[in-house]
Amino acid sequence: MNKIKSVVSGITPSGHALHIGNYFGAVKPQFDLQEQGVICYYFVADLHALTTVQDKKVLEANIVNNILDYIALGLDPEKTIYFRQSDVPEHSQLAIILANYVSLALTKRMHAFKDKLAKGASQETINMGLFNYPILMAADILLYMPYGVPVGEDQRQHVEFARNVAKGFNKVHGNTFPLPKPLISKSVSGKVIGTDGVRKMSKNLGNHISIFDSEQVIEQQIMNCYTDPNRIRSTDPGKVEENPVFIYHDLMNGNKAEVIDLKKRYREGKVGDVDVKEKLFEAHMKLFGPARKRRQELEKAFDEVKKILADGAKKAQKTASHTLAQVHKTIGITNKLN
Ligand code: ADP
Ligand code: TRP
Repeated sequence: MNKIKSVVSGITPSGHALHIGNYFGAVKPQFDLQEQGVICYYFVADLHALTTVQDKKVLEANIVNNILDYIALGLDPEKTIYFRQSDVPEHSQLAIILANYVSLALTKRMHAFKDKLAKGASQETINMGLFNYPILMAADILLYMPYGVPVGEDQRQHVEFARNVAKGFNKVHGNTFPLPKPLISKSVSGKVIGTDGVRKMSKNLGNHISIFDSEQVIEQQIMNCYTDPNRIRSTDPGKVEENPVFIYHDLMNGNKAEVIDLKKRYREGKVGDVDVKEKLFEAHMKLFGPARKRRQELEKAFDEVKKILADGAKKAQKTASHTLAQVHKTIGITNKLN
């Protein structure tokens, strides 16, 4: 149905501000696609957030912050269709239909559900929103018939689930949905390591480096970062590979000559961890300085933000309502009586 290539992605506003893991794993690759003549549908997955956030005030703050962060980081509303999931009711409507084309067994294998069980929740008390999470996500994706979904590695399983839903539907009704591919960033292999040097960077694990927190908080996060555990004194030769501080330098420091020099001196035991981290903090401020400034301006320009969202929802709905109407015809809900 869709001739021009398109991509779809969303971020759940489940809490706290975006961190550099989100940025390099998902947001930056999404913005890079804006420049490649691809139609981009990006949204804030506010309905998905209900699975974990049910306090009205917290939910509102999370949604607003997520939107301001995202726009400040480089969303181009001229090129990208950016909207709130809940503003396009076709997402929920398609989810109800798609649930009929996927098995209970497959849905039970999804990690959001399994993780909850692993954390001790009982299968009987897990909310159905969490269980249905991948079905709504499949609807988010398939409505726009994209070829790809730019996300971090941890979302691969969900995109594969959406492919299975599309296959299930196509098997019954003939070729309707193209099968979407997960587009995982090669530069970070879909996963930015946390400041603990062990696990994936995640706001829930507290091993993240923020983008929009105060300078003091960010400096502290960088200073607390794990480095080479075998290096006791700054005169000891240090290991650069797999050292998170250098992984972050490679990602954030635009001054490549400085990075090469720091790595060389680190290996030779000629520079201290604190110096390397101070340079990292400076690189962070330089890279994200414009976004941090823009974020502050946006807080005073809600009309501009509202307009971006309203325009985005209108454009998204045009495609979404077209797909839903097709689906209604295909399955027989739109019939002689219409
Ligand atoms: P978090 O784990 O911090 O709660 P989310 O689940 O909200 O992050 O993820 C939002 C997007 O950012 C998703 O596309 C996800 O794959 C990506 N992402 C999150 N953490 C990382 C990371 N450490 N490295 C790469 N991508 C990430
Ligand atoms: N599950 C994604 C996250 O946790 C958010 C999301 C919802 C999404 N619907 C989507 C991502 C559709 C890509 C495509 O951030």
